Amino acid sequence: MTNTPAADQTAVYGAGKLTPQAPRKPVSLPRLREMRERGEKITMLTAYDATFASVADAAGVECILVGDSLGMVCQGLPSTTGVSLETMRYHVESVSRGLHRTQGTAWLIGDLPFGSYHESKEQALRSASVLMQAGAHMVKLEGGGWTAETVRFLVERGIPVCAHLGLTPQTVHALGGYRVQGKTDESANTMKRHAHELQDAGAAMVVLEMVPHLLATALTEELKICHTIGIGAGKGCAGQVLVLHDMLGINLGKMPKFVRNFMQGTGDVKAAFEAYVSAVKTGAFPDDALHAW
Ligand code: KIV
Repeated sequence: MTNTPAADQTAVYGAGKLTPQAPRKPVSLPRLREMRERGEKITMLTAYDATFASVADAAGVECILVGDSLGMVCQGLPSTTGVSLETMRYHVESVSRGLHRTQGTAWLIGDLPFGSYHESKEQALRSASVLMQAGAHMVKLEGGGWTAETVRFLVERGIPVCAHLGLTPQTVHALGGYRVQGKTDESANTMKRHAHELQDAGAAMVVLEMVPHLLATALTEELKICHTIGIGAGKGCAGQVLVLHDMLGINLGKMPKFVRNFMQGTGDVKAAFEAYVSAVKTGAFPDDALHAW
């Protein structure tokens, strides 16, 4: 790869390939709010290394999530529960370095892994600080109302937080598998209550994973401050996220049925990312027929 001086606004991605980039404004919480206010969908993808993150950024993806899904797609673990804070720090730092090197503008979110925020809010602050010092702009943690106190503690200390409701993979063993959540009236009402508690605590975003699309749409309408980011939750959310390996069609396990393989018909990673951005922005993805749960 060729090293590019930061001043000349040139993005580097692909082996030795230089593509000029017009200067872009960094994505920030106020910018995400403006997007929401004008009805523009927010795009998010997971990435775990410098190159993929930079290519996604250059393709116009606003938010990069260094998800603990890396345990499965990078480390070959059976679930996300085995991912350590040190592993998350390593990948957040790699992505952050890649974005800096290519003058990337994406908003970088780091997942707090299993066990790194469960003990106390002080433990959560220590873990979040590790990811923020590695370059994250925001941390994500899974769970309902029990995390609200922790969210408030982090937000009060200047750490933006993304919550995660619905299917929370870190609790897959308690949930009994990767199942849709919020299908009954009772569980839907509980999820709504938790979402409001998290918004009141200061969460700026909430990932809704495998949630019925009508519930996700209702939550999006109710949560005026906290942006809903759906995965398997229909097109009514304020934004969408997919796992990188899923949308590139290289998932080693079972492909979730709500995923679209964006490599098909593009055959090029950057073009696949651009197709994803365009499909989310125009409402062509996701397809609610694939979320008929
Ligand atoms: O870890 C991850 O990649 C995630 C996404 C599925 C939202 O949490």
